[in-house]
Amino acid sequence: MNVLLLGSGGREHALAWKMSASPLLTRLYASPGNPGIGSIAELVRLDVSDHAAVAAFCQEKKIDLVVVGPEGPLVAGIADDLRVWGIRVFGPSKAAARLEGSKGFTKDLCAKFDIPTAAFGRFGDLASAKTYVEKKGAPIVIKADGLAAGKGVTVAMTLDEAMAALDACFDGSLGAAGAEVVVEEFLTGEEASFFCLCDGVTALPFGTAQDHKRVGDGDVGPNTGGMGAYSPAPVMTPQMTERTMREIIEPTMRGMAELGAPFAGILFAGLMITDSGPKLIEYNVRFGDPECQVLMMRLKDDLLVLLNAAIDGQLAHTSIRWRDEAALTVVMAARGYPGTPEKGSVIRGLDEAASEGAEIFHAGTAINGGALVANGGRVLNVTALGKTVGEAQQKAYAAIDQIDWPQGFYRHDIGWRAVEREKSGA
Ligand code: AMP
Ligand code: GLY
Repeated sequence: MNVLLLGSGGREHALAWKMSASPLLTRLYASPGNPGIGSIAELVRLDVSDHAAVAAFCQEKKIDLVVVGPEGPLVAGIADDLRVWGIRVFGPSKAAARLEGSKGFTKDLCAKFDIPTAAFGRFGDLASAKTYVEKKGAPIVIKADGLAAGKGVTVAMTLDEAMAALDACFDGSLGAAGAEVVVEEFLTGEEASFFCLCDGVTALPFGTAQDHKRVGDGDVGPNTGGMGAYSPAPVMTPQMTERTMREIIEPTMRGMAELGAPFAGILFAGLMITDSGPKLIEYNVRFGDPECQVLMMRLKDDLLVLLNAAIDGQLAHTSIRWRDEAALTVVMAARGYPGTPEKGSVIRGLDEAASEGAEIFHAGTAINGGALVANGGRVLNVTALGKTVGEAQQKAYAAIDQIDWPQGFYRHDIGWRAVEREKSGA
């Protein structure tokens, strides 16, 4: 089959890498892609916000399946619009993508269908939000309702921080995303990313991971899109997975169907494993980045078969096989990230790094005058498998040692929590 993949990050490179191993694949196109994706797919320039133009391309190239990587196009309704043209799409409808596109929508769903989550209030004006925050006290969490490119959440340890975050939401700097806020109870516990492949009715567990959101070693410094990840997440024991399915995922599937917005695609639950069990922090309606990279390394089955089964409503009759090994990915970022990253520095040594047994997924890279250069914040994802998280970690860092890129940086402790557990035998 001919496939069009939308997106340009490490997540999309990992998806392209896995799809290109499928005997079902005839031609793979990617838009806009990146140089790593370009080594296994034909890169095309499409305006992803122009759904008719994307549909016309699909008809011209006889595309059998469109795989949408990031959330933006899904929230904008690209899956619905392409389906009107008879094009098969892996990704939820606009109505179902509200699970990521509106935090308030998801909180209301949780309230209506008894899904465990942090206690919350929704506010459309500054004064009533501030009154609520004063009543509840700190620590407290402030979230812009809409998509804010990772900048919409403030975990406020003091009332002053909380008030400043509310001011920032309502002063217009987050655009439409900040017109409404969700104010949430501060949860404590261990975070985990939990994925399910969904066909509108059935949700199949699709792996667990933990990422490292803070920029610096020891989980310090500003939040990022994720500086590294590993899979599986030890905190997601079979019992915890079973509880999460029963208490969170299945009521969500039933609730979305009841609201007339059945969810089909990949559902990414950000969980807090608290003393009283799993609680939903947030939903995303796409693979995580960099979580996808470790999931693809561990997936034994043919990704294209699974995506097609989800589109065809066949997941009740499908099972998914995983490698026993753990996978770990370290993000190499350009100096300045998560602020303004320096662009244009030359990266060398990727072949040497790959010879250490790692997969190097590209994120923000470009080719300039024949050289590979940094072209974004998160630039490379150095990814390895191992019998343990510790072994995968050693292999990933051994590969990084071969990469010659003085202007890049990375965390040195990706996987620390799991490696400590392994060492203590817990
Ligand atoms: P989000 O963008 O919703 O993933 O939130 C970013 C991060 O903020 C999460 O990964 C958590 O670490 C933290 N966070 C969000 N909501 C809460 C909460 N209710 N309690 C504690 N931490 C939270
Ligand atoms: N790594 C977190 C995310 O993709 O949202």
